[in-house]
Amino acid sequence: MSRKKISLIGGGQIGQILALISAQKQLGDVVILDIPDFEGSVKGKALDLMEMRPLEGYDVNITGTSDYADIADSDVVIITAGVPRKPGMSRDDLLGINLKIISNVAENVKKYAPDAFVIVVSNPLDAIVYAFYKVSGFSKNKIIGMAGALDSSRFKAFIAMETGYSTQDVSCLVLGGHGDTMVPLTRLATVGGVPVTELLDADKLEAIEKRTRMAGGEIVKLLGNGSAFFSPAQSAIDMAESYLLDKKRVIPSAALCEGEYDIDGLFIGVPCVIGAGGIEKIIEVKLNDDEKAALKVTAEHVSSVVAETKL
Ligand code: NAD
Ligand code: LAC
Repeated sequence: MSRKKISLIGGGQIGQILALISAQKQLGDVVILDIPDFEGSVKGKALDLMEMRPLEGYDVNITGTSDYADIADSDVVIITAGVPRKPGMSRDDLLGINLKIISNVAENVKKYAPDAFVIVVSNPLDAIVYAFYKVSGFSKNKIIGMAGALDSSRFKAFIAMETGYSTQDVSCLVLGGHGDTMVPLTRLATVGGVPVTELLDADKLEAIEKRTRMAGGEIVKLLGNGSAFFSPAQSAIDMAESYLLDKKRVIPSAALCEGEYDIDGLFIGVPCVIGAGGIEKIIEVKLNDDEKAALKVTAEHVSSVVAETKL
């Protein structure tokens, strides 16, 4: 059986970590693609990872390129092509430039890797994954946006930091858009099966929800140039691995809703079953009135940004 093939469109901060983790996990051969100006950079990163093989014991091949023909027949394509935000910018501020980029990427992925499972990372995530869908014509089960995995990880991390308990035992879910209106579902969050509402007081939980919503900007401000890259990369790898290994994991991700959660025609963060069929199911969790109202607000925001794509 030949190895799987994972193509990374964008070999920058997140792309290089994607390449490293993919190789270490031996998920498949890795192609890192970037624009011609950065072909040397991705070739150098790929060669560095090849030279690390004896140390780490992985045997997959890693190559760098600027030629889309090299992504032919990829099983998974992960897209980070685009610019990240700078301090003071919202993710939505990136729409103009990243929309042009994703349109070009979508045409090339459609041409060279039409059967791939596509994971979009570029921001503003909910609009950019929508744009990929509209330009590529891929079926909705083969296109997914990475956001909820990261936002939920941040939510879990903050709960673990506050309680002092192992992150391993924290379970929680963030729904909605990948922005300040995202919806951390505190009511359903648990540590070892114990509701967090029994472990932390309401003020603490509210502060954790707020920090989760603003977590991206907190890192952007600290870094001063660019945004988070370690945790976004691992989040996307979890999604790719669930597809490649048919793990049927339930990972909150931006998926095309066509009636689910009373949302129609938008990619938005919902619990997705990810297996060999791509997005195999969107799970509808019962929400209370406040949660439904919050989801409506985030969906309206996503809809307004998607409208700007004019797609
Ligand atoms: P980066 O600038 O380090 O890397 C982006 C890479 O894309 C660069 O190497 C650039 O040359 C390349 N690129 C630009 N145009 C291209 C094209 N047409 N084809 C191929 N490659 C192209 O940025 P980063 O930190 O890796 O972030 C990438 C994107 O991911 C940004 O839009 C950022 O906002 C977003 N992001 C999303 C999440 C999320 O949760 N969805 C998290 C973090 C970052
Ligand atoms: C950011 C990522 C996390 O822009 O979406 O901060």
